[in-house]
Formats: sequence, C-alpha cells, structure tokens
Amino acid sequence: MVTLEGQKVVVIGGSSGMGLATAKMLVHSGAQVVIAGRSERKLSNAMSYFSTGVKALILDFSIEESVKTFFATLDGFDHLVLTADGFPAWGAIKDIDTAALRKDFDNKFWGYFLSAKYALPNIREDGSITFISGAASRKAITGTSGLAAVNGAIVAMAMTLAKELAPIRVNAISPGLVETAAYDWMEPEARAAMFEHFAEVAPVKRIGKPDDIAEAILFVISNTFLTGAVIDVDGGIRLS
Ligand SMILES: NC(=O)c1ccc[n+]([C@@H]2O[C@H](COP(=O)([O-])OP(=O)(O)OC[C@H]3O[C@@H](n4cnc5c(N)ncnc54)[C@H](OP(=O)(O)O)[C@@H]3O)[C@@H](O)[C@H]2O)c1
Repeated sequence: MVTLEGQKVVVIGGSSGMGLATAKMLVHSGAQVVIAGRSERKLSNAMSYFSTGVKALILDFSIEESVKTFFATLDGFDHLVLTADGFPAWGAIKDIDTAALRKDFDNKFWGYFLSAKYALPNIREDGSITFISGAASRKAITGTSGLAAVNGAIVAMAMTLAKELAPIRVNAISPGLVETAAYDWMEPEARAAMFEHFAEVAPVKRIGKPDDIAEAILFVISNTFLTGAVIDVDGGIRLS
C-alpha cells in the first residue's frame, strides 16, 4: 500500500471520473488534496465523498490569467495531476468540426501546458507532474485523429519536460476506454455499443474503471525512480 502521508497533491479535474477516483485514493493514502474544476456543482458533489483532507477550488485551466492566479494563491505542494478534459473532438477527418478540435486543444492541451508552466514555482524538487493522455495517441484508431493529435502533443511535451524540469519527475498515463461521465453526452444505446465493442476487442475483455487509472497515478507519483514514462493503462487495446 502506497503511503503519501504529509504530501500535498493538486488534481485538476478532480471533481469527476479518474480525477475524483484519484483524490479518494490519495486521501486514503494520507495525502492532502486540492481538487479543481470549473463547475461548483461537480466540486460540491465530489466533496460529499470526503470528511477531511480535501479542499475544492474553482478553476478553468484553459484561461491563462486564472491559472496564474490559482497557483499564485496556493502554497507549495508535492505533486500536480492533470486529468481535466471537457471537449474531446471525435470523428473522421472529413467530418470533424474544425472548431471542435480547436476547442479541445484550447481546453486540454493548453490547460495542461498552462498548469505545468504556472505550477512550477509551487512544486517541490522531489515532486512530480502527471499528465493523463489517451490511447488514441498510442494506436491508430479510425475516427480519432483529433484525439490522437491532442494527446500526442501532451505525451511529447511530457517527455521533454521530464528532462527540462528535472529533478521534478514528469510522466504520462494513457488510459483506454474508461466508464466515466465523459460519455454522458452519448445516446445510451450508442454508448453501450461502444463499451461492449471495446470489451470484446481489448485483451482484458472489459472496459476500464476510474480506479484502474487512479491506481496507476498513485504508482507514478510515489515511484521516485520513474520519469519520462508513458504508462499504458488501456486494457491492452493498443495491441488489438
Ligand atoms: N474516459 C475515457 O474513456 C478516457 C479515455 C482516454 C483518455 N481519457 C482522458 O482521461 C482524463 C480524465 O477523463 P475522465 O473520463 O475522468 O473525464 P470526466 O469524468 O469528464 O472528468 C473531467 C474533469 O475535468 C474537469 N474539467 C474539464 N475542463 C476543465 C477546465 N477547462 N478547467 C478545469 N477543469 C476542467 C471537469 O470538471 P468541470 O467540467 O467542472 O470543469 C471534470 O472534473 C481526460 O484527460 C480524458 O481526455 C479519458
């Protein structure tokens, strides 16, 4: 069991899905956690899972001034975990809405970049930054070139930052399909069909759970010999 007693962790995207599962595990491991997201409702729902150890703060990490202020008003901490994403741009290139892909870059890529940039003065030297990317950037999957581009940019950035920001460790975790609120926008039948298809073709024969990724995040932030790595927690989908 990982112990993070006395450590402080900021999870941007911690009000839902993988980020919330991570915050729960972090608190269980003894860490002090800050969760951040845009929606007060989601943050207050997330806070109902905790009696102590967690602070919730509103942040839109795609807005540079907000990110600057957010970190300027936080004390020092050990680990930054980025799980936020709100607008993944799915679709074949002939159909994909250009504005939707730009919005995805604006939110996920620029949010990760800005957070890493402005968090730097706060992160302790033996701390870490963990980016959550996505399996679309690790395997050619028809209809996901936009997701591949956004997540591929994040993985590429993580590799370089692992060297540039050393001794702060920087890693990426690449999830496969994980059942979270990220798919609430889909028609229930289409969503069920997508989940079933993934479970059929993935070597592990199931879709992911937020805890699968949270376990990997705890491993990455607590293993002080790990940096510049991309950890595929994807049910083996990149092999299928
Ligand atoms: N679920 C999957 O199958 C899957 C697969 C591969 C990769 N991923 C990646 O895994 C990560 C976690 O996904 P998830 O499924 O856990 O998503 P989720 O349940 O939808 O949670 C996303 C979180 O990000 C926050 N967020 C979104 N935009 C934000 C912004 N501009 N500023 C601050 N917070 C923001 C959301 O809160 P607010 O809306 O309140 O801001 C929420 O807390 C994402 O990076 C996603 O791209 C997911």
